[in-house]
Amino acid sequence: MAILEIIKYGNPVLTRKAELIKTIDQEILDLAQDMISTMHAAPGIGLAAPQVNISKRLITVDLSVGEKPDDLVVLINPEFIKTEGEDVSEEGCLSVPGVQEKIKRPARVLVKGMDLQGREKIIEAEGLLARVFCHEIDHINGKLFIDNLSPLKKALIKKRLKKEHALG
Ligand code: NI
Repeated sequence: MAILEIIKYGNPVLTRKAELIKTIDQEILDLAQDMISTMHAAPGIGLAAPQVNISKRLITVDLSVGEKPDDLVVLINPEFIKTEGEDVSEEGCLSVPGVQEKIKRPARVLVKGMDLQGREKIIEAEGLLARVFCHEIDHINGKLFIDNLSPLKKALIKKRLKKEHALG
């Protein structure tokens, strides 16, 4: 198991639509383990493969950040079956350090994907868990949470990030 580098805002891998995973081979199993370690070490409650520079549709989610094994979810090729309601809450991202913004998300989601054994999983989530699924599925579609803001607000944040990046 390894702790991987988390790719930051500005890298094109974060804006690319990630590839479907067709076979669950050793590479995918290792990647999932490394993503779990990386997410826990960050610490974070969710991670998507593009954030570790792998453009594949794989996400890890753990609201307990390693405290409760039952909270850990690894999903291959996750997609929404249904989204419902609305919830506005503060959100951040390991790839966009220092930025916290209120983002509107569905209040409840039904997500479908595969676990590491290749079994189909259907997960019902609400509140923070629903938000994390939305955030991570956005990542594999090449979308960052700040892309959900108004164009003006997004432009201001991008300007700030660019400046910080230029300064070091
Ligand atoms: Ni993120």
